[in-house]
Amino acid sequence: MIKNINKFPEDFLWGGAVAANQCEGAWNVDGKGISTADVATAGALNVKREYTDGIIGGKYYPSHEAIDFYNRYKDDIKLFGEMGFKCFRTSIAWTRIFPNGDENYPNEAGLKYYDELFDECLKYGIKPVVTISHYEMPYSLVEKYGAWRDRRLVDFYLNYCNVIFNRYKDKVTHWMTFNEINVITLHPFIPAGIKIKPEENKEEVIYQAAHHQLIASAKAVKLAHEINPDFKVGCMMVYPLAYAETCNPVDVLTTNEFMNRHYFFSDVHVRGHYPNYMKKYFERNNLNIKFEDSDEEILKSGTVDFIGFSYYMTLVVSGNNDGKTLTGGNMTKGIKNPYLKASDWGWQVDPVGFRIALNNLYNRYEIPLFCVENGLGAVDEVEEDGSINDDYRIEYLRQHISEMKKAIIIDGVEMIGYTPWGCIDLISAGTGEMKKRYGFIYVDKDNDGNGTLERRKKKSFYWYKDVIKSNGEIL
Ligand code: BG6
Repeated sequence: MIKNINKFPEDFLWGGAVAANQCEGAWNVDGKGISTADVATAGALNVKREYTDGIIGGKYYPSHEAIDFYNRYKDDIKLFGEMGFKCFRTSIAWTRIFPNGDENYPNEAGLKYYDELFDECLKYGIKPVVTISHYEMPYSLVEKYGAWRDRRLVDFYLNYCNVIFNRYKDKVTHWMTFNEINVITLHPFIPAGIKIKPEENKEEVIYQAAHHQLIASAKAVKLAHEINPDFKVGCMMVYPLAYAETCNPVDVLTTNEFMNRHYFFSDVHVRGHYPNYMKKYFERNNLNIKFEDSDEEILKSGTVDFIGFSYYMTLVVSGNNDGKTLTGGNMTKGIKNPYLKASDWGWQVDPVGFRIALNNLYNRYEIPLFCVENGLGAVDEVEEDGSINDDYRIEYLRQHISEMKKAIIIDGVEMIGYTPWGCIDLISAGTGEMKKRYGFIYVDKDNDGNGTLERRKKKSFYWYKDVIKSNGEIL
């Protein structure tokens, strides 16, 4: 029997989400090492970022200062408290804890920083939700081992997990192992530090690295449960819902195959084994992925408690892309959907798609879902009186929350919470811009790094406060 729910659950985790490298700054203080995010320069509208070999003079690296959350977190968390956040999703910068990644002992200053940050959240009744690796890792691991292509990374990651699980076991309950783990197949450097050499088989390197991350993730889940049986550990994937361009079965088949490339990651995380379609894919494409004897057992023993995912937009897929206009999307591109409007960055806004996504994921796996990223990247204007009237953002969020409500109440989808992305403006992961804003809180800084970093409440700040206060009744 399912419970007859007609509103959001009482303990629903309303909150907001950020990632360390996109907000903290302070990239080289208190013993922090250089991360893969620290070698990324800024692009411009839809221009991908450049990943340099180390820090090169004369270039602008937005993560180095970001929005200076490292020094201003107390004031920022106070504002989250004012909005009534029940949770706050952030990541731990691996390089604050292990500057090079392969040390035996952690950096105490880094551990202390997150102790204080989590305490500050708890002071306002805000539960920290932690991503263990969000689009960054020690750059030294890239140089020394070629990053996740090397199986030794599993042990370095586990060592890091062991330290943070033990240290924060009384402060954090919800963890996610790798942010948008499935993005590795699209941009291997961003989530996994992988640089492909010209002579290499790109796909083989990517899926080998992905295998190492999946093993690391399963081992981390098992370890987490041993350290604290109350820990809830999730995977985190980008969910790029794709529609077939037409009812031509070839378009539908291509769309299914497109989705399988993404479901592969959640299938392994939730079911604890490789799906047959993927084994066949490796076979068909002559991809030789090395497994160790114990791998099957490891995957089986480390299945996740929930599915964390990001949802921003949807895509259209065809069996034949010739001559078709493609539009932007989160880490990927697709054909333009004539039924949808797009953001200034070309991401196709699709609230009903959100309900479909929730149903697809829940019906496939039947474990709780946690939407840990959703939102509209838009240009905000500060009016003469200092106000920021971001009605477009309110409208985007209102429509998405309303579809989420239907998925819970009408369709029976089980959800833990909802944390809109970039609850305070931060630098874009895709382009490094500041102009692409998601926040309820404005930060005075531009694409070139100029600005006072002053914080300002937007109209959406007050709106979201009422949403949380009414537990989603007032939208
Ligand atoms: C997700 C990432 O892909 O989308 C975030 O997990 C990112 O790190 C967010 O910031 C929005 O993308 P962008 O490119 O607009 O910053």
